[in-house]
Amino acid sequence: MQSLRRLVSFLALAAVVLAARAASVPPLMYGAAWYPEQWSEATWEADLARMQAAGLNMVRIGEFAWSSLEPSEGNYQLDWMERAVAAAARHGMVTIIGTPTDTPPAWLTTKYPEVLRVGEDGKQLQHGSRRHFSIASAKYRELCAKIVTQLAERFGHNPHVVAWQIGNEFTEDSFDDESRRGWHAWLEKRYGSLDLLNRHWMTAYWSQTYSQWSQIPMTTGRANPGLLLDYKRYVTDTWLAFQRNQIAVLRAHVEPRQLITTNLGGVGWANRFNRQLIAADYDVISWDEYLGAGYADSSRNGTGHLDPDRSGSTHDLVRGWKQRNFWVLEMPPGFVDWSSVSNSLDRGETRAMAWHAVAHGADCVAYWQWRSALNGQEQYHGSLVGPDGEPVPVYAEAAQAGREFAQAAPVIAGTSPVSQVALIHDYDSRWAIDFNRFSNRYEQLEVLHSYYKALRRQTQSVDIVTPAMDLARYKLIVAPSLNVVSAALAQKLTAWVEAGGHLVLGPRTGMKNEFNALNTQRQPGPLVATLGGRVEQFYALLEDVPVAGEWGSGRATVWAETLASLPAAQLSTLNPQLSTSGAIEVLLRYGAGNDWLTGQPAAIRRRVGQGTITYLGAVVDQPLMQTLAQQWTAMAHVDSPVIPVPDRVSVGRRVAADREVFIFTNFSAGPQKIALPGAMTDVLQGGEVTKLSLPRYGVAVLVRRLKS
Ligand code: GAL
Repeated sequence: MQSLRRLVSFLALAAVVLAARAASVPPLMYGAAWYPEQWSEATWEADLARMQAAGLNMVRIGEFAWSSLEPSEGNYQLDWMERAVAAAARHGMVTIIGTPTDTPPAWLTTKYPEVLRVGEDGKQLQHGSRRHFSIASAKYRELCAKIVTQLAERFGHNPHVVAWQIGNEFTEDSFDDESRRGWHAWLEKRYGSLDLLNRHWMTAYWSQTYSQWSQIPMTTGRANPGLLLDYKRYVTDTWLAFQRNQIAVLRAHVEPRQLITTNLGGVGWANRFNRQLIAADYDVISWDEYLGAGYADSSRNGTGHLDPDRSGSTHDLVRGWKQRNFWVLEMPPGFVDWSSVSNSLDRGETRAMAWHAVAHGADCVAYWQWRSALNGQEQYHGSLVGPDGEPVPVYAEAAQAGREFAQAAPVIAGTSPVSQVALIHDYDSRWAIDFNRFSNRYEQLEVLHSYYKALRRQTQSVDIVTPAMDLARYKLIVAPSLNVVSAALAQKLTAWVEAGGHLVLGPRTGMKNEFNALNTQRQPGPLVATLGGRVEQFYALLEDVPVAGEWGSGRATVWAETLASLPAAQLSTLNPQLSTSGAIEVLLRYGAGNDWLTGQPAAIRRRVGQGTITYLGAVVDQPLMQTLAQQWTAMAHVDSPVIPVPDRVSVGRRVAADREVFIFTNFSAGPQKIALPGAMTDVLQGGEVTKLSLPRYGVAVLVRRLKS
């Protein structure tokens, strides 16, 4: 008894000592994907020493290592991973462990072939690549839970493990029978009765009326819009269930200090499922930044050079999923190997790209990958050391960023971007428009970026959020292409306007309800009463049309909607609760060129309660968009500090209670000079500065105290 008690107190003491020594996430984490299982242990020490010399303070391991962790069913081999974690710690690095569920091993897919993913063409995937599992498979989830349990039990209290990554870059859904049964069960749960489903989808159209759940197709082709939208939601819910299966295991076993994340790929804006809902489950959300982020044109992926607006908007999108700082768990050290032309970033660009992410709210930057794998599908990919383990040219640049991160970390710790302006990016709406673009000239991401670019230039800080997020913190909310507006969303937005918010709706707003059916009031649907007007008709343009009015002049391109105010009597029946509202002002009208449009209102605004609601019915040229952004931010009294910078020089501001940090990166073609509004401390160079001289790809980190 005595000895048992002694043992218990010894263990308790040991736990306290261990907990005290447990590492936490470094305030500015800098790492690389390392695959110790691909190399002999004899190479580890030299690799880790080189990582440490480059200033890395984190390694990310394990996410494809299932066959090394469990070479045959139930035969767990976790010791090597423990040795790898310990070796990294000896070099001052914490570890993020990826659960290996993106790559089920061959023994598993041989024994349980039912877990293999089936494409929409009905073909089952074979072993030999990755992402070959069905997200709906109960058997696969059971097997995932087993391996994750082993990992969680072994590493859940490991002092050097600071975070977990679930899987890797969630991507494809599956069209196997189990998924199909899941789809039918999901629909039954959502609608309760086929009558209701038939009504909301208006299945009388083309005799689609269903009399059994099992008759409902599972397709992404040109199907009923209600079905297509629900399928996206089903896929989202299936991914949620897939990740929750693993999150539950981790939460049950690991210390809360170990954060749980997943790294979303697809250059950020991918929309196979609702990423904001996926992000909501995690302690922190991560994404993998490769070139091409933010462009609708996928041929840009992995090639070219960094565009600070497109990359910046993607960081802001990711930050908006949780309205919090985020991690970049993959960035290319120079180049990828899967693009049309996998060109290298310029000298200096890799470092500037890392800092640019931090400027937008990243608290972690990590490279994919540390060392070129000798074989496997990605042999040519950029790395920090070559197949021989010796530094490649970009190593020195990454090491410079490593030194700078360490230097700046104390100043940056605890700061985040703060925006008074939000752009709405709504998955339902994005899908609804993509199912029928009506004009292939209407490219939503391009429309959104036109707004983003103008607002960002105007304010230097824009949040991109879904309508589900907290909107109260913003002064101005701008929603281009908010196609799906439910009654509940209209209510939320109206209440926000009444309380003093300034809402700008862009083209195609409110055409659909949550079932992807047309709203009977026409656009903007349940917001008609708030706006006091509506869209009379929408037009896909072949040619530009002039627009002009109190707000400036320019061209309507791609898309034009004619607007009209509605009689007060009609409005009060639509929303009798609405607080006092003013007359409708017409701020832009179409000029001559298209008879349907000539002289018709293109933008209207109305005061409602303490705020305003504006509807802009046209896609407009960029100079006019810039003028509009100026008027909107002035109207909403947006007053965040702005430091004038030349084009393609980016400035990001991160704020804590006692300080503001400005991070400049120069992606323009040459050196640039910037005058500062006052003296600031130069964190990287030291000393006080009132102006900056930035070479091409130059970086500056400045800090200024804030009076509390
Ligand atoms: C990412 C993926 C990595 C690696 C990388 C290459 O999408 O997560 O595992 O394949 O691409 O660029």
